[in-house]
Amino acid sequence: MEHLVECRDVVKIHRGRGIGGAKHGFKAVEGISLSIDRDRSYGLVGESGCGKTTFARALLYLDPPTSGSIRFDGVELSTLGRREFRKFRKRMQIVFQDPNSALNPKMSIHDSLSEGLINRGIGEAERAKRIKDLLELVGISYAYRNRYPHEFSGGQKQRIVIARALSMEPDFLVLDEPVSNLDVSIQGQIINLLTDLKNEFSLTYLFISHDLNLVSYMCDTMGVMFKGKIVEEAASEILVSKPSHPYTRRLLASIPGGAERTGALGLDEEEESVETLAARAASRQAGVGCPYYPYCPLGDDECVSSAPSLRQLEGGHVVSCHKVEPAESR
Ligand SMILES: Nc1ncnc2c1ncn2[C@@H]1O[C@H](COP(=O)(O)OP(=O)(O)OP(=O)(O)O)[C@@H](O)[C@H]1O
Ligand SMILES: [Mg+2]
Repeated sequence: MEHLVECRDVVKIHRGRGIGGAKHGFKAVEGISLSIDRDRSYGLVGESGCGKTTFARALLYLDPPTSGSIRFDGVELSTLGRREFRKFRKRMQIVFQDPNSALNPKMSIHDSLSEGLINRGIGEAERAKRIKDLLELVGISYAYRNRYPHEFSGGQKQRIVIARALSMEPDFLVLDEPVSNLDVSIQGQIINLLTDLKNEFSLTYLFISHDLNLVSYMCDTMGVMFKGKIVEEAASEILVSKPSHPYTRRLLASIPGGAERTGALGLDEEEESVETLAARAASRQAGVGCPYYPYCPLGDDECVSSAPSLRQLEGGHVVSCHKVEPAESR
């Protein structure tokens, strides 16, 4: 089966950051390859600043990649002209973390939802019907359609943002931390809504979060990102039960109950020799070797001198770490 989304070696350099930034730029995404099959959900996890949003924006060509290939439904996006691209654009929608900045405060929700439908050439009577259906779908009363964003709670606003994304009848939705700005009590409702919508419309999801529990619950496959790269990828149940990369193990150990499940794997700096600490600091400065080495309890000389690439363990489980052996010998 052909993948719905296929990225190869996607790189994104942000220009204009820091001294000499305009010239050299900042490599926020360093060669990401991943694919997502139709009706599936891929979860991308990693700590703040590792490049998740940058990758998502590059993937949708909101902020095109510096290099690399992105195929959607078999079509290489970089080859499309403006008009053709617009057709694809509708099929790929994104929901961001903050519903407040996603909605125009000066527009009623009716008008916000109308915009996309007008662009798609849908007439007034049909628009009214669709807006009613969309609002019902996300659990907002049609009677509230003439209200403005500030009259809704955070969770309701996110429902409206989701309805607006669905108004384009997408087949692919990128959900970039869709619940992390919401009260914990509301988060579950939005997650349930997203799960129901996925089933009802056979949607394909890229779900971005730093919450590993949530991602493993929502997604079939998970990729762990560290400093612009995927360092481990596997089916969700494998990734959380048999994490291989020391970074994944650290992330899992940091969630409640995680340390017992995976064996804590932290770097105890007090136990390190002065030489090792100096080597770690030098490696961080030099930017050679494994990017995780400065934080890694398993690191040795090999990790200082060469950066590991992703390699296969078993059953689609891939990891970039010199110190991880294939499963049988672990
Ligand atoms: N437009 C930009 N110009 C320059 N640097 C940027 C720009 N956008 C992001 N960055 C930098 O790129 C890196 C990755 O940022 P990004 O927002 O993609 O991370 P993230 O994984 O989504 O983080 P979070 O979990 O906090 O949302 C960060 O160091 C950030 O400061
Ligand atoms: Mg982000």
